[in-house]
Amino acid sequence: MPTNETATLTFRGKTFDFPVLTGTENEVAIDISKLRKHTGAVALDYGYVNTGACKSAITYLDGEQGILRYRGYPVEDLAQNSRFVEVAYLLINGRMPDKNEREQWSALLNRHSMMHEDMRHFFYSYPERAHPMAILSAMVVSLSTFYPELSQHRPEEPDEAINIAATRLMSKMRTIAAFSYKKSIGEPFVYPRHDLKYCANFLNMMFSSPVCSYEIKPEVLQALNILLILHADHEQNCSTSAVRLVGSARVNLYASVGAGICALWGPLHGGANQMVINMLEDIAASGKSVQQYVDDVKSSKGGKLLYGFGHRVYKTYDPRAKIIKASCDRVLKALKINDPMLDMAQELESIAMRDEYFISRNLYPNVDFYSGIIYRAIGIPKEMFTVMFALGRLPGWIAQWKESREDPMFKLQRPRQIYIGPNVRMVKEAERTSEL
Ligand code: CMC
Repeated sequence: MPTNETATLTFRGKTFDFPVLTGTENEVAIDISKLRKHTGAVALDYGYVNTGACKSAITYLDGEQGILRYRGYPVEDLAQNSRFVEVAYLLINGRMPDKNEREQWSALLNRHSMMHEDMRHFFYSYPERAHPMAILSAMVVSLSTFYPELSQHRPEEPDEAINIAATRLMSKMRTIAAFSYKKSIGEPFVYPRHDLKYCANFLNMMFSSPVCSYEIKPEVLQALNILLILHADHEQNCSTSAVRLVGSARVNLYASVGAGICALWGPLHGGANQMVINMLEDIAASGKSVQQYVDDVKSSKGGKLLYGFGHRVYKTYDPRAKIIKASCDRVLKALKINDPMLDMAQELESIAMRDEYFISRNLYPNVDFYSGIIYRAIGIPKEMFTVMFALGRLPGWIAQWKESREDPMFKLQRPRQIYIGPNVRMVKEAERTSEL
C-alpha cells in the first residue's frame, strides 16, 4: 500500500524522492522502479538479499520471529488441521474449499491422475542411475507436448483453461514421481486409483506391486501430509523465483514449473535434504565424532557446510523444522523404528546450537534437517527426497505463477548488470582467420 512517506537519495549533488510502500504486515519497501530513469544508475544487490521482486498475497514470512503463514493461516494450524490437498487449494485459489469444492477438487484430481500412455515409454529410455529430479523436470516439461492447448501463458487465456492445467499438473506430477521411483528400482508401474485420496494414492503407487499390496498406515499418511503442507510455499525462494522469472517470458505453466524443479534440485536449496543424509552417512563412515565434523565445518571457512542448517531469511529456528522434528519423533515411535541417523542428527543439532560459530551467524536447523529421517522411515530412498520437496512445493509454484500472470504490473523480468570486462578492442592481425 502506498504511504505519504518518501525516501530521499542524494546522488551527484542532486536529490531524488522515492515512494515508500508498506505491506499488510507492515513490511516496508522503497520503490526504486524509477531509479535508473531518474539517476542513470542501477541498484546492485548480490543474491537479491534486499530486493522485493513483486507484491504477493500468498505467503507471509517473518524470518526474525519465525512466522510462516499461507494466505494468512499459520502453518502450525494447517499442519494440525488440514490435509495437503486442501492447503494446495488454499494456495492456488486464495481460500479454503467448502465441502462441495473439496469434493469437486478431489474428483478433478482423480480425473487427471493418469498420464498419457505414450509418456510411459520415456521412463524406459533413462539410464539406470538417472537422478529422479532430472526425470521429473523432463517429464513435467513434456506434459506441455501432450496438452499444448491448455498451457499457454497468454493474457487472454481463460482462467478455466489455466485451472485445468494446474489441476492436471498437481495430479500428474504425483504419478510421474511414483513412476520415476518404480523405474529406478526396476519394478512395474502401479497406476493411480480413484478410491484413494491424494497421499494414500501416492504411497500405493510407490510401494505396492502386482505381487504385494501395501498397507497404508495412518501415522505414515499423517506424516506425509504434514511434510507436504510444510513445503507447499515459501514466498520468493530460489525455485519460485525461477518459476516467476521463466513465466515472465510468457512461458507455459509446465515449462515454468520444470525450471522450478531444476532450481530446487541444488544442494543449497531443496537438494539439501538429500545432502543431510549423505553428510550423516559420511560422518558414520569416517569414524569421526560428530564434534570433529562440526570442527571441520568451522575450520573450512565456508568450504564445508552443515547441510540442513542456515537460511537466507530465517534468523531463528525455522518454524517448519520445529513441526517436522516433532513429527519425526512421533512417526519413528509409531513405526517402532530406531534410526541411528536420528540420534546423530540430534547430537549434531545440540552441538551446533551451543557453538559460538553457529550462534553468532544465526544458523539454526532448517526444513531439510529432519525431513529425510521421516522419509527414510516411510521407506523413501534419499535420491527421492528432493522429488518429495517438489511435490510439496508444486501448489506454491502454481499459485505464484498464476499470481504473476494476473498482476497488473506483469513485466518481463530482466535484471541489469555492472559490466566489468575489457573495453572495446578489435581482432588483432595474429588472431584473424579466413577459414570457414
Ligand atoms: N554451515 C556452515 N556455515 C554456514 C552455513 C552452514 N549450513 N550456512 C551459512 N554458513 C555461514 C557462511 O559460511 C557465512 O559465514 P561467514 O560470515 O564467516 O562468511 C555465514 O554463515 C552467512 O552465510 P551466507 O552464505 O551469507 O548465508 P546465505 O543467506 O547466503 O545462505 C544458505 C543461506 C541456505 C544457502 C546457507 O545457510 C547454506 O548453504 N545452508 C546449507 C544448505 C541448506 O541446508 N539449504 C537448505 C535451505 S532451507 C530449504 C530451502 O528453502 O531452500
